[in-house]
Amino acid sequence: MRRPSEIGAAVIGSGFIGTVHIEALRRMGVQVHGLLGSTPERGAVSAERIGLPTAYASIDELLADDRVDVVHVTSPNHLHHPQVKRILAAGRHVVCEKPLAMTSEESGELVRLAAESGRVNAVNFNIRFYPLNQHVHQLIADGGVGDVRLVSGHYFQDWLLLETDWNWRLVPGLGGSLRAVGDIGSHWLDLVAFMTGLRITEVMADLETFIPVRREPTGPVETFSTERAAETVARAIGTEDIATILLRFDNGARGTVAISQLSAGRKNSLEYEIDGSSAALSWDSEQPDQLWIGHREGPNEILIRNPALMGTLGREAAFLPGGHVEGFADTFRALFSAVYADVGEGRPADRPVYPTFAEGHDEMLVGDAVARSAADGRWVAVERGELTRTQLEESARP
Ligand SMILES: NC(=O)c1ccc[n+]([C@@H]2O[C@H](COP(=O)([O-])OP(=O)(O)OC[C@H]3O[C@@H](n4cnc5c(N)ncnc54)[C@H](O)[C@@H]3O)[C@@H](O)[C@H]2O)c1
Repeated sequence: MRRPSEIGAAVIGSGFIGTVHIEALRRMGVQVHGLLGSTPERGAVSAERIGLPTAYASIDELLADDRVDVVHVTSPNHLHHPQVKRILAAGRHVVCEKPLAMTSEESGELVRLAAESGRVNAVNFNIRFYPLNQHVHQLIADGGVGDVRLVSGHYFQDWLLLETDWNWRLVPGLGGSLRAVGDIGSHWLDLVAFMTGLRITEVMADLETFIPVRREPTGPVETFSTERAAETVARAIGTEDIATILLRFDNGARGTVAISQLSAGRKNSLEYEIDGSSAALSWDSEQPDQLWIGHREGPNEILIRNPALMGTLGREAAFLPGGHVEGFADTFRALFSAVYADVGEGRPADRPVYPTFAEGHDEMLVGDAVARSAADGRWVAVERGELTRTQLEESARP
């Protein structure tokens, strides 16, 4: 068993989220040997900014570095599949950002290749690793809310509200044919499946594009940037700004979620409520240290994240005592800690406690059903192949 400080990593992409990956790895003591940017020049600027020793000139150069055991893929979505294939073929463990790929054909191939490689494979559905969400997962598995009947909520952001807001996610060839659903809806859908231990079996989806023409700056744009470009060109947009989706789960529970990148004032608001036969739970990512617990026969409760008051899973994901607020960046450290425990053993555990490629692929299959339902205006079943079903049953469901 190797400790994190004895394991080497490299990161592909050094934008918004690549930087968060690198900082979380450093907090764990992992040796981050270098990064790969979109060009050697841009990579060198990022390496200097972040304080990393190496900007690799190419993925070949990165994979030729024998000190690198794990590669983190944080590039735009269209690069995940080709880059992950190269990494697995080079015998490295891999942590890939969501969505795992552009299509379910691609993500299915990655599930197969990862299984054949025997390497650790993870998809960064980091929201699972807020300590209170780990606690909810365990609480529900232990019968803490009774039978789950209704799962509702939203994921709202506002950073694409204006026609002058631009990002690579708006280009289907770079971000995928589902935009709001693939980018942020995927987190919500994965999270509620993880916490309830239920599978989404059918969806009825309505997608709408409210801004059909946007202004693309002629220069590059950083994610979440608020600067306005002087020169722009008009671009037609076909992907959804907003989605509303009805859900059915495999135990008969019902669900509903609204997903929007046009919700003024909502910077990063993922909310859920889970209504069970004996209690209810509700959480908001903008107040991540608080869990609302609803009761019928007694006063409702607010559980403030506190290792002393959570189950073992919540405790393991927490780094600070109660009252010392934890947040987004800490979830990366918690998820990576789980992943690197397996890396230390050289292979995935029989039941990994982090989201694997199988779960990243499952999310793509739910996305396929969402797209088909919206196009046809009807309920659509999620079509799972035998491979995914078996892999998911072996993964960390309660
Ligand atoms: N888990 C989360 O909470 C979360 C949050 C944000 C983004 N993401 C995911 O992370 C990925 C990146 O998103 P972002 O917001 O950081 O985008 P970004 O635009 O801020 O960063 C993307 C980075 O990739 C680099 N890049 C582009 N082409 C490259 C290439 N050929 N080789 C290497 N690097 C290349 C860019 O230079 C940039 O540094 C996306 O897949 C996104 O869905 C996940």
